[in-house]
Amino acid sequence: MIPEEQKKALDSWQISARYWNKYRVLIAQMFAPLTLGLVEEARIGIGQKVLDIGGGSGEPSLTISSIVGPTGSVTYTDPVAGMVETAQAEAGSQGLTNIHFRQCSADELPFAERPFDVAVGRLSAMFFADPVKAVREALRVIVENGYVSFVVWGPKEANPFFSAITDAIDRSVDVPPQGPDAPETFRFADPGKLAGILKKAGAKNVIERKLNFEIKAPISFEQFWQLRTEMSGTLREKIARLAPDQLPTVKQAVAESVRKYFVRGTMSFPAQALIVSGRKLVV
Ligand SMILES: C[S@@+](CC[C@H](N)C(=O)[O-])C[C@H]1O[C@@H](n2cnc3c(N)ncnc32)[C@H](O)[C@@H]1O
Repeated sequence: MIPEEQKKALDSWQISARYWNKYRVLIAQMFAPLTLGLVEEARIGIGQKVLDIGGGSGEPSLTISSIVGPTGSVTYTDPVAGMVETAQAEAGSQGLTNIHFRQCSADELPFAERPFDVAVGRLSAMFFADPVKAVREALRVIVENGYVSFVVWGPKEANPFFSAITDAIDRSVDVPPQGPDAPETFRFADPGKLAGILKKAGAKNVIERKLNFEIKAPISFEQFWQLRTEMSGTLREKIARLAPDQLPTVKQAVAESVRKYFVRGTMSFPAQALIVSGRKLVV
């Protein structure tokens, strides 16, 4: 990414930060299976020192803090000030004392070599400016034999929670085509793509695991629409380009296409993620 684009992307995340904070409880609930997947793949347990890269409104850091317990610690990182502030405030209000916070980008980690046992990133790798450099950095700061593990979204077709609104809007506005390496939700949806990056960065024993789960929450279609259109910078931008009379039509089309995922006050979308992990082995 060129620096100008990078700055624009981070500015958009800064606006998103207030909405990620607003929906913190729902986010933790909806994406909890991803955190559990990461914990399992990276073999996170009591007493470990864990690095979280691109922690957003606080996950998976907040969950991992209770898994590693008082003898372990989590270091949360994110390049966006608004994200760091809200995550830190939440850790404070939960009285968590084993979390540390640093504002930094994945491709320039302000740590010496090897202070961590493992490094993880939940739904952040697709936004890294230079993913190979970022994974190299993650490997640099973990101990020998440690794990790096990233979870990203699988294909668009398997993730209607994300694609339903985007597809409906894209049918109404001219969207300039994006290159395959543009930082966006489905950047690493192709099997093997992120695994290739881990290998290129020097990770060994790289494994990719498919995780099928349901994005569940006790919310209505109206609440889903509001949550998605507030939290996503891309959607906010695209909606701003719709003519005023187009929005109700798009919303109606989305409501019809996702009706089956809302039953008796509960939202439940099928979803697919990929968890890609590797180890730092010195040969
Ligand atoms: C989709 S959010 C995921 C947040 C959180 N991990 C979660 O799962 O709820 C993506 C996060 O990646 C962060 N991000 C964007 N560019 C980044 C970079 N270059 N290095 C690290 N994180 C980055 C954003 O600020 C944002 O907090």
